[in-house]
Amino acid sequence: MYIGVDYYPEHWPVTRWATDAKLMHDAGFNVVRLAEFAWSRLEPAEGQFDFKWLDDALAILAQQGISAVLGTPTAVMPAWVAHKYPETLATEKNGTRIAWGMRKNNCFTSGTYRLLSERITRAMAEHFAATPNVIGWQTDNEFGDPQCFCDTCRAEFHEWLRRRYGTTDALNTAWGTHFWGHQVSQWDEITLPASNDTFNPSQCLDWKRFQSWLNVRFQADQLRILRATCPKQFVTHNLMGFFKELNYYDLATDLDFVAWDNYPIWEEVGKRWFDSAAAGDLMRGLKNKPTWIMETNAGPGGWGKFGRNPYPGEMRAFAYQQIAHGAEGYVWFRWRTCTAGREQYWHGLLGHDGVPARRYQEAAQTAQELHRLAPILAGTTVQAEVAVLHDYESLWALDFQAGYEGNDTIGHIMRYCAALYRAGVGIDFVSPHCDISRYRVVIAPQLFILPDALADKLRDFVKAGGTLLTDLRSGVKNETNLCHDRTLPGKLSEVLGIRIEEYEARQRELPIVGSANLPGSATATLYSDWVIPGTAEVLAGYDAWHLQPYAAVTQNRFGKGHGFYVGTIAKEPAFYDRLIARVLGEAGIKPVLTPPPGVEMAIRRGAGKEVIFLLNSTDQPVTIAPPTGASDAQTGQPCKDSLTLDRFDVVVLLRKSAGHGSAGCP
Ligand code: GAL
Ligand code: ZN
Repeated sequence: MYIGVDYYPEHWPVTRWATDAKLMHDAGFNVVRLAEFAWSRLEPAEGQFDFKWLDDALAILAQQGISAVLGTPTAVMPAWVAHKYPETLATEKNGTRIAWGMRKNNCFTSGTYRLLSERITRAMAEHFAATPNVIGWQTDNEFGDPQCFCDTCRAEFHEWLRRRYGTTDALNTAWGTHFWGHQVSQWDEITLPASNDTFNPSQCLDWKRFQSWLNVRFQADQLRILRATCPKQFVTHNLMGFFKELNYYDLATDLDFVAWDNYPIWEEVGKRWFDSAAAGDLMRGLKNKPTWIMETNAGPGGWGKFGRNPYPGEMRAFAYQQIAHGAEGYVWFRWRTCTAGREQYWHGLLGHDGVPARRYQEAAQTAQELHRLAPILAGTTVQAEVAVLHDYESLWALDFQAGYEGNDTIGHIMRYCAALYRAGVGIDFVSPHCDISRYRVVIAPQLFILPDALADKLRDFVKAGGTLLTDLRSGVKNETNLCHDRTLPGKLSEVLGIRIEEYEARQRELPIVGSANLPGSATATLYSDWVIPGTAEVLAGYDAWHLQPYAAVTQNRFGKGHGFYVGTIAKEPAFYDRLIARVLGEAGIKPVLTPPPGVEMAIRRGAGKEVIFLLNSTDQPVTIAPPTGASDAQTGQPCKDSLTLDRFDVVVLLRKSAGHGSAGCP
């Protein structure tokens, strides 16, 4: 297992490097990520390369048995690039060039920038291909920014559209340009959407697809070079969990594995716990492979102001959480707090003073524990029976047209995910292209863009015995972001056994009233479909005179499976707990145990065993009855009838298990 830190030797005197490497070694670290912002040090003037300092740093690290992942340094262009080739800088909507001085400020269609990026990538690749402790590469850093509105971007967008649609007539149809008389007859007439709130939503969606494609292409330029020159070294990128501006399935396709940056320590204790779990599941699902954490909180974070400190045990708890969700590399950001620049307050394991203290000790303890755990984890991975559909295009389209005030798309997905985790059930996130047939349950929140082929796939899934849960705003749009001209939920009507002729966004809250099969009441907020049950059973309705005839939640038997529909948003998490309990019951899924509040149970299976992580996300001790037949993974001692987990503590248990057989989206 690779465990370590993001390290910037270039920020410190050479005389300090050996001390750093020794401290890292003593902590049990065996990897660092280096150089992702060091272009100006590696190519101080055009075509003049200086790799000596990095060779020296790598050699010092090697002496302590520490490997390195090198970043291609293209996330920050050196001053000479911006000065000599101003066209490499991105152009803002108003036509002005971005001022050089931050990072992520390049135009992705600038031929000059692509050439310069390829040149530094090739020079580094050739130089470090044979360096024994360089094990891999990170492309750039956190792809996502910026959007550029320059003339070459516009021309490339036209090219991209031409490849997609062939003729402007086809584009006019796809975009529905008869509205407001927006037909075009030449590609050159097409402008860039200056605003996602006022321009044609079909145009906005294609612009977003194009932006995503530009980033993927830029990465592909580097991948080609790295693959050809460094066949023994892996290539990854540091993605950002639920960041949704790029199609991460596409960005991940040609990487060896996904690495990502997880910053859950911000708000009060426990608040981001399940977000971090779900982000781990999402990132694992991009390639259905183990991931690395490439950056994570090592201290208070912030640029101008900083947040709270990770409390004792919290960094360790989050590390175990990610290992439980399928990570096999763990890297803290950063080694030592920098004394200069914008991130002076983004604290590392060491403070400005470079003295190893509490946070260093906790990371060291965690590293040593995880190294001992690694052989126990060998051959295991998350094997979920529940899939959550993650569709970037629906998320983008909902960004342009939220439909109702307060539509927090990711927060909404989390309503279901958190309920599943609270129930002790693991999740895979899957793309709309995944073969979902091996799952028992598919949850598709706000599946706004629903091409016919996907609707058919969901229908086949239910027919064959699967349980589908979908909800409001699903099936509204087609793949070019036009509204389907069918009664909602369109092609899913039969599967769900309902019809929706009317719907509303609103401020006023209404009571939701359950039934024998979904007991209890709740509060409907923000939005309601006026759901007309056909063959579906009404699980919950509204206590409001005008919504009497309509359902809030329905369940339909279709083929051998079930289709659930939720036409509103409930305020209370407990509503989702009851709903998920019903869904799991119908799908025949029984968790190993239902953990007490504040405790997450996450399981890795394989090689005939089950590794059960019990993670206390709170700063209070909790007591838990462990599953039968389990022993402590480290000591092999059989479990007592009751375990007490101290604040943020973690217990790893082992049981024999046949497992479910397969993992992830095939
Ligand atoms: C990440 C980024 C790092 C550092 C960190 C703290 O998003 O990759 O380079 O900037 O945030 O701000
Ligand atoms: Zn541009």
